[in-house]
Amino acid sequence: MSTDHGTAADRERALTDEVVAGFGRAAAPRLREVLQSLVRHLHAFTREVRLTEREWETAIEFLTRAGHITDDRRQEFILLSDVLGLSMLTVAVNQPRTPGATEATVLGPFYTDDAPEIPLGGDLARGAKGTPCFVSGQVRSLDGGPVDGALLHVWGADEDGFYDVQYSAGRSAGRGRLRTAPDGSYRFWTVLPTPYPIPHDGPVGDLLTAAGRGPMRPAHLHFKATAPGHRTLVTHLFVAGDPHLADDAVFGVRDSLVVEAERHAAGPAPDGTHPHRPWTSMTFDLVLVPGTDT
Ligand code: BEZ
Ligand code: FE
Repeated sequence: MSTDHGTAADRERALTDEVVAGFGRAAAPRLREVLQSLVRHLHAFTREVRLTEREWETAIEFLTRAGHITDDRRQEFILLSDVLGLSMLTVAVNQPRTPGATEATVLGPFYTDDAPEIPLGGDLARGAKGTPCFVSGQVRSLDGGPVDGALLHVWGADEDGFYDVQYSAGRSAGRGRLRTAPDGSYRFWTVLPTPYPIPHDGPVGDLLTAAGRGPMRPAHLHFKATAPGHRTLVTHLFVAGDPHLADDAVFGVRDSLVVEAERHAAGPAPDGTHPHRPWTSMTFDLVLVPGTDT
């Protein structure tokens, strides 16, 4: 119930209390907790910045544009969450750093669960443009033991900065899944990642421009590792020396995930192949935390 008594500040607070109480009727305790907290913070924000009615309209127009540009292949709301740091904060809250284990980072919008299975040592580029890159490492458990048969999903952009799904529905390149050997080792060929902009031709791009921020992500390769008895790890390997390591548009960089890319002239590679053009290599071990996903 609104009240005409007290100061303007009292009336503002009374409105917040009324809305919080309204959501207090939600039967599910967690839903109640989340909605009441959301209202408190949203109202506090509105009072703090003294939000104007024109600004409120601008926000509604922004969200409406985000809705119109979103479809099965373009998710502007996740991009918004990413550039606000909300995606990365949610990762940090749910997967706090475990000393000795590989750090997690954002999944991003370009994961698909139907990546082709490739044999150990195979080429997951499958036509993606770029400098060949041999990636190898070991998957271990936190106690140091190798993880046999861990499933690795790997996906990356080509040298023009695009994922297969950004070209056309059904195209598959630059992604694959493979299993570790009994000693936990893995190896595959792909293309060397290069920095690329997140999709910025929509409202989120306009927001970045207005804020004087750029859309670039530093060069990276995505990994999703699953193994029985271990928590799923979603992470990236970042390429050392990238100019955007310090201004990732989605705040996903962790220093422990940055690795050197070694450059090699055309010639023999560690797996017995002989690339006819210059190639690169990177080594990246993954350490999984025992347990189950919550
Ligand atoms: C990505 O790394 O694929 C990504 C992450 C967040 C937004 C856009 C792209
Ligand atoms: Fe990416």
